[in-house]
Amino acid sequence: MRHNPVSVAFVSIATLKGHAGRKVDLRGWVFTKRASKKILFIELRDGAGIVQTVTARETVGDEHFTEWASLPQESSIEVSGVVREEPRAKGGVEIDVQEIRPISRPTAEYPINKPDHSPDFLLERRHLWLRSKKQWAVLRVRDTVFHEIHAFFRKEGFLHVSAPILTPAACEGTSTLFGMDYFDQGKAYLTQSGQLYMEAAAMAHGRVYCFGPTFRAEKSKTRRHLTEFWMAEPEAAFYELDDVMALAEGLLCHVVARVLAQRRDELAILERDTAPLEKIQPPFPRISYTEAHALAEKAGEPFPFGDDLGAPQETAISKQFDRPVMIHRYPTGVKAFYMKQDPQDPRFVLCVDVIAPEGVGEIIGGSQREDDLAALEKRIAEHKLPKEAFEWYFDLRRFGSVAHGGFGLGLERTVAWICGREHVRETIPFPRMLYRIYP
Ligand code: 4AD
Ligand code: MG
Repeated sequence: MRHNPVSVAFVSIATLKGHAGRKVDLRGWVFTKRASKKILFIELRDGAGIVQTVTARETVGDEHFTEWASLPQESSIEVSGVVREEPRAKGGVEIDVQEIRPISRPTAEYPINKPDHSPDFLLERRHLWLRSKKQWAVLRVRDTVFHEIHAFFRKEGFLHVSAPILTPAACEGTSTLFGMDYFDQGKAYLTQSGQLYMEAAAMAHGRVYCFGPTFRAEKSKTRRHLTEFWMAEPEAAFYELDDVMALAEGLLCHVVARVLAQRRDELAILERDTAPLEKIQPPFPRISYTEAHALAEKAGEPFPFGDDLGAPQETAISKQFDRPVMIHRYPTGVKAFYMKQDPQDPRFVLCVDVIAPEGVGEIIGGSQREDDLAALEKRIAEHKLPKEAFEWYFDLRRFGSVAHGGFGLGLERTVAWICGREHVRETIPFPRMLYRIYP
């Protein structure tokens, strides 16, 4: 039954429109199937797209019709047929089937076959769930976001530098470290952020960024937290807080515009209302922590002055604006050791959190860095961090210290916002969370 496919040039479903009227060979998987006595509809997906195939009993004969109509969901197949323009079809074409050649028949019923499986059921089968339409669309948007982050930084003269994954010390607090024994060198940790290494690289190259996986042993089970997530982290010499904010604004506008230009179909599959995304234009509102505190109170989400903002406060504040809000100058006590104190008011640090609209919360955290050696040593001591582990970092202040700064953008939260997904777990191929490491 199987033909030798060697001589056949298979066509991608993404390019089918250019083949209207011609005979083509396709290969992929049975996505959905409907059959009547006379006609069989198989939606074929090949990874690049989905197309409806139409098989008429009259054309292919009883025996073939019966065999092909019995192909279960997710059978892999080759299809030969003629591309017919069909204005009512999604991609503008359908396939009139001449022949279907099964490659592999599933050995059991495909488990993902209802519209209302529970999240746990789907996460347990993430390796198969990836084939579903919305999950497929999310990863395609993620790919564009990933690519366009690189494109933006390159356009702005930033050099990509790889940060290490194994690190000797904490960057973002000691409570979320994944530790391990590192031969006879003591403890090592999975990186929480490449920032400290980017500070070193910025003094060598001026403008740099890293973009890789980062790890936090977060005990929080929220829709915003993963234990492994990807972060894009630019760092630039001679940048002050205002430059950091302008860079963050430029990056988000660039990425959203490119997704809107390239991923309309995927956003439609996700039923994402694109009107709020069209509004992502500069300038973004910039408000101080002190102003944010007052805004939250007015919006019915008061909190003690000096505390960090929680998710309810972030949501209440972001609701007042139609674009991302940049909240700057948080109290020193709630932020990391490396942030520079505000010379105008030492109760605050020169930092910024960017809060996405529509309830996703903080997608970017950044700051101007403490460039004064004595001040930095004091902060390290206050945070009870081991001084020895940061000797190399102090060197950056000993040898030609300059103002500098940067930020970290969380890829999954950004994709969740752009795709309008409720939970970050759907925005990474294989999510790692407090209660999940499988598959
Ligand atoms: O605000 P964070 O902790 O900042 C840093 O790590 C800095 N060292 C970055 C820098 O300045 N180079 O994290 C930055 C971003 C957050 O705004 C959020 O988008 C994301 O990383 N993030 C997480 N995403 C998913 N799950 C988690 N557990 C996350 N923790 C942070
Ligand atoms: Mg943060």
